[in-house]
Amino acid sequence: MKVALVGASGAVGSEFIKILEERRFPAKEFLLFGSKRSAGKELNVCGRLCQIQELKDNDAFKDVDIAFVSAGGSTSKEFASVITRYGALMIDNSSAYRMDKEVPLVVPEVNPQDALNTPKKIIANPNCSTIQMVVTLKALDNISPLQRVHVATYQAASGAGARGMEELQAQALDYAQGKNLKIEAFSSQLLFNVIPHIDFFSDQDYTNEELKMHRETQKILHRAVPVSATCVRVPVMRAHSEAIWVKAEQPLSVEVAKNAFQKMPGVSLIDDPQAKKYPMPLLASGKDDIYVGRIREDIAEEGALTYWCVADQIRKGAALNAVQIAEYLLDQHVIDQK
Ligand SMILES: NC(=O)c1ccc[n+]([C@@H]2O[C@H](COP(=O)([O-])OP(=O)(O)OC[C@H]3O[C@@H](n4cnc5c(N)ncnc54)[C@H](OP(=O)(O)O)[C@@H]3O)[C@@H](O)[C@H]2O)c1
Repeated sequence: MKVALVGASGAVGSEFIKILEERRFPAKEFLLFGSKRSAGKELNVCGRLCQIQELKDNDAFKDVDIAFVSAGGSTSKEFASVITRYGALMIDNSSAYRMDKEVPLVVPEVNPQDALNTPKKIIANPNCSTIQMVVTLKALDNISPLQRVHVATYQAASGAGARGMEELQAQALDYAQGKNLKIEAFSSQLLFNVIPHIDFFSDQDYTNEELKMHRETQKILHRAVPVSATCVRVPVMRAHSEAIWVKAEQPLSVEVAKNAFQKMPGVSLIDDPQAKKYPMPLLASGKDDIYVGRIREDIAEEGALTYWCVADQIRKGAALNAVQIAEYLLDQHVIDQK
C-alpha cells in the first residue's frame, strides 16, 4: 500500500508518523507533503527517510491508496480533487468536509459502517473535542437514548497546532526571564489565563468550535441530540478535558454508567476520588484511550448524570482516529493490501 501524509511536519502529522509506526500500519511506501515551508525536509517514517514534497496540482497522488490529510481546511478544499483524482481515499482531519452530506464523519467506536459509503472518496475525521465526547455519549446512548448534552471544554494549547504549543512554552520562558510575552496564536495571553474563545464567533454568539460539537455529534449519532457547549482554551500543553452533563430518556444511574464506560472500546475508567484518582491531561498525554471519571448524579436535575472526560486530542482526537478508520476499511477489505 502507498500512503500519503499531507501536513507531515505539523502537530498532527508528527503524531501520524508515530502512530503508523507503533501500529505497524501495513504500508510499503510513504509519501510526505507540506507547503513550501517544509518541502525538502526529511523525516524518518517507519525506519525510512522520506522527503517532504510541496503539495501541488500534479499527478503525485497516482497509485496512492490512502491519504491522511492534516493541513487545514483551506488546503483540504483546494487539493481534495488533486488527492482523490486517481482513486486515493482521503481521510481528512480538517473541518472542510465534515458536514458535507456526501462525506461520512466517522469515529470507529461509534459509527464505523458510515465509512463504507464514500461517494467523494473522502472521509472526515470529526473535531477533536467532539471525538472524545461522542465515544462516551455513545456508551450512555446505548443504555437509553440521550435527550440533551451540556459540555464545558478545557482545551490544550496544542489544539491550535505546533504554533499554539510554541507560544505557551515561549510565554512560560519569557515570563521566567521577566520579558514581555508574545501573543500571536491566541486572542490573549494563555499563560496564567483561560480564554473562552476557540475558532470564530457565529452570529448566534456561540463559537464555531461550540457549534461543531453540536452539529457533528448529531451527524455521528444519526440523531438530533442537542449539545450546548462552552469551549475554553487553557494553559495545558496537550490533551483536552471536558465536563459533561447528560440527560437520557430513562434516568441514568452512576453504576449503570460506570459499567457502560468500562465496556466501551477505547474508554478507560479512572474514578476513585477518595484516593485522588481521576483523569487529568498530564496522565492522558501520549495515550490512546479516552479517560472518564468523576461520575456522579447531577444534583441539579433528577435522573441526569455528570462526568469528566480527558483524552489526547492529537492522538484520539486526530491522528489515531484517522488511522483506526483506515484499519477498519482494511479489515472490511474496502482497501486492499497489495
Ligand atoms: N492540533 C490538534 O489538536 C488537531 C486536532 C484535530 C484536528 N486538527 C486539524 O488538523 C490539521 C492540522 O493541524 P495541526 O495542529 O497539525 O497544525 P500545524 O501544527 O499548524 O501543522 C499544519 C500542517 O499543515 C501544513 N500545511 C499548511 N498549509 C499547507 C499547504 N498550503 N500545503 C501543504 N501543506 C500545508 C503545514 O506544512 P508546512 O510546515 O510545510 O507549512 C503543516 O505540516 C488542521 O486542519 C486542524 O484543524 C488538529
